[in-house]
Formats: sequence, C-alpha cells, structure tokens
Amino acid sequence: MKIETKCLHSGYTPKNTEPRVVPIVQSTTYVYDSTDDVAAVFDDPTKSLIYSRFENPTVMAVEEKINALEGGIGAMCTSSGQAASLLSLLNILKAGDSFISAATIYGGTVNLFAYTLKKLGIECIFVNADASEDEIRFAFKPNTKAVFGETLANPALAVFDIEKFAKIAHENGVPLIIDNTFPTPVLCRPFEYGADIVIHSTTKYMDGHAVQGGGVIVDSGNFDWTNGKFPEFTEPDESYHGTIYTKAYGKAAYIVKARMQLMRDFGCYPSAQSAFYLNLGLETLPIRMKQYCENAKIVSEFLEANDKVESVNYPGLASDKYHDLLLSISLTAVPVLSHLLSRAARTLLSSLWIHLNLLQTRYTLLIYAPAYFIRQVQHTVSSQKSSLLPAESAAVLSDFLLVLKMLKIYLTTSSRDSQLSTDNTSLIVKKVLSVIPKGLFYIQ
Ligand SMILES: Cc1ncc(COP(=O)(O)O)c(C=O)c1O
Repeated sequence: MKIETKCLHSGYTPKNTEPRVVPIVQSTTYVYDSTDDVAAVFDDPTKSLIYSRFENPTVMAVEEKINALEGGIGAMCTSSGQAASLLSLLNILKAGDSFISAATIYGGTVNLFAYTLKKLGIECIFVNADASEDEIRFAFKPNTKAVFGETLANPALAVFDIEKFAKIAHENGVPLIIDNTFPTPVLCRPFEYGADIVIHSTTKYMDGHAVQGGGVIVDSGNFDWTNGKFPEFTEPDESYHGTIYTKAYGKAAYIVKARMQLMRDFGCYPSAQSAFYLNLGLETLPIRMKQYCENAKIVSEFLEANDKVESVNYPGLASDKYHDLLLSISLTAVPVLSHLLSRAARTLLSSLWIHLNLLQTRYTLLIYAPAYFIRQVQHTVSSQKSSLLPAESAAVLSDFLLVLKMLKIYLTTSSRDSQLSTDNTSLIVKKVLSVIPKGLFYIQ
C-alpha cells in the first residue's frame, strides 16, 4: 500500500453498514458477559479492552495507522510528545541507569533529560551527534541502556546519522530511540536505517491543524530484549501477576510492557476525541508535507539572498553542511528551516520569533488563527515599547517588515492549493500591519 493510502485507510476497516469514519468511542469502560470473561481479559490484556486509562478503540485505530506508517510491530499513543519521550525511556531505564542522547534536540526534551530524569536517578549523557564513532563509543558506561536522537533536530535542523548511531548502540547491546517528529513517516522511516523505537510529538505535522496535542511511541519489534541487559523484560513482572514480557508477547514485548505497566500507572493516554482529531490530520499528511517542504524551500532561498539574515539552516539547500547526510536517509526535502537575523532584529523578534517558529513548523496555525498571531504582535510591540531607542526602533521596523514579507510568501505559497486567495493573504498582512501602535517607531 502507498503511504497516501495508508494515511487514509490503515487502522480501521469498516464492515458492511458500519460507519465510514473511525467512530469516537466515548466510553470509560467496557462490558463483559461473565466474570470469566473479565478474568480472561486481565490475564491477557491484548485479547480485549480493559479500561480507558490505557486502551480505547478510537485511539487504537490511530495507533494502528501510525504503526503501519512507520512499519512497526505496535504503537501506543500518549497525551503529548513529552509523555512519549518519557515513557519510551522509562520502559527501559530505572534509577541508577544512564542513556546517551544527541545534544542537539528539542529544548523541552533537554529539560526532561537533564533535570527531571536526573531527579529520578537516571543520568543522560549528552554527546555531539557529529562526533566520530570512537568519540561516541567512549561515552558509553556499563549502566548505559539506550541511545536517543532526533532525525531532524528542533531547532538546529542538524540531521542525525541514524545508521551510525544504530550501529554503535547495537554494538553495546542497547536500543536506538528516534524522535521522528519533523520528517514524519512520510519523509523518513527510521526503522529502515536501524532504529528500534520511534517516538513523535503528533502536536506538529501529524495533527497539522494545531487543534490537538499528542504523542506516540512505535516499536519496530526488532530489538532483542533477551540479551541479558534488560531483566524487566525477561523476569516476572510482579505488578502483572508474574508476566514475562518477552515470553508472553515475543517481538511485541516492549510496546505491550509500555502499555500494561507504564500507561496503566501514569495514565497519560489520549481521549477518543483527541485521537479523532489526530486521525483527521493524518489523512492529509502526505499532501501537507509536500506543501510544507515547498514553502520552506522558497523561504530559505529568499532568506539566503537577504543581507539582514546572518545564516540559514535548511538541510535541503545543497550548501548546507547536513545536505549529504539528509540524502543518505532518502530525504530530499525538509519541511522546516531556522535562521538568524541581524542583532537589531532580534531585539523585537525575540518573542515574535517564537511565533515565526510556529509559522515554520505548524504554519497552518497561522493561516487558521491569524487573530492569535496578531495578539502576539500587539503584546510583543507593547512590551518592547519602553526599552527601544529610536535608532533601534527604525532597524527593528525594517526587520519586522522583512518578517511580514516572509509571512506573505508563506501565505501566498500556501494559498495556491488551498482556500486562501492572494487577496485574502494581502488582507491578513494588512491586518497584522494595522495593529502596530502608531508613533512607536521613528522612521528616518
Ligand atoms: C522534536 C520534538 N519532540 C518532542 C516535542 C514535545 O512534544 P509536545 O509539545 O507534544 O509535548 C517537541 C515539541 O515542540 C518537538 O519539537
């Protein structure tokens, strides 16, 4: 099946006269005919549904779809991307263990790894992902149990060498976990390059409409948990009447354990309604990814040619230092870019920039919610009012206009295939301009 078809149909196959669209099963509990039936379900939770804290048919249809997209053995949704990162590691590590992570990862994940996991007694060893194989090997300790990296790092846009890290992780008998949020399985499927576990923040492109936060963990089923390093997989789980995960669930041991131990105890499972929204986003994912890549390329070329821009990170450009690595994981286009403006621009844009990032990574947010963006512009401008000198203001204004120009490019390119006409985009840009308080800027 082509990925476009999987995005529409995987995970839910309605039978004769059943609803065409994945139904929202808004129920906390499920019904059993007899106490024997209940007992059987508790003995083998994969056979039927127990409780909505960790299982729901709507969510499970989406889990199956994402699993099909990544090519894994099983998936489990979480209420956020952070929850997916956390559970993906807690399923392997305990107090006293360590893991290795690329240093170029999303800032929220750095907080989780460097501070919160540390409080739980788990050490994160950060490595430069561009370091040589030997330097990375040197970072391993006897208690190191996993390796973590982002396919395309947020916001550095460093490309992670999945094959290099998979090789080193496997030499050390530990799994490689990849955060594949930015490329999504439409652009890259990390299992094909040796990754063992994939996680996503579905809050970004998978959702695509900025309506629902979420995350997911996908298990390749390829890692050998019986190699002696992971007794939690091969010894009886006292909290689950003595289940030995590798024995009872074979290749699906990791993902079943994540659900039956961790989701049961932490309960950060999405609601049926949340999964329904995510599913709608997934249906259009391939079309949107193509457009995001096209937009990012146009803006990166525009920025590269502008003298107010100090640097552009866009691995899709042949001049980018990660371009070859990008091609090595069969990625020819990238949906995001990051860039550095001149110093004056940063004065104003320090908070506006956050929204520009949203524009880059979830630009549909901007299209569907320009009012939100406008409020932020108002806030940014008023909070900067007292601290700007006249000369700085003029510089900032000219940089701000550059940002608006970029905004216009985004909106115009997006409108080609969507409901936004060029007239509408100019209207939005005019509206944004009209909220800048008069007299704030001194134009020379
Ligand atoms: C690459 C990446 N991973 C994980 C996360 C965390 O996801 P969430 O915000 O859904 O918790 C983010 C959030 O921006 C991200 O960019």
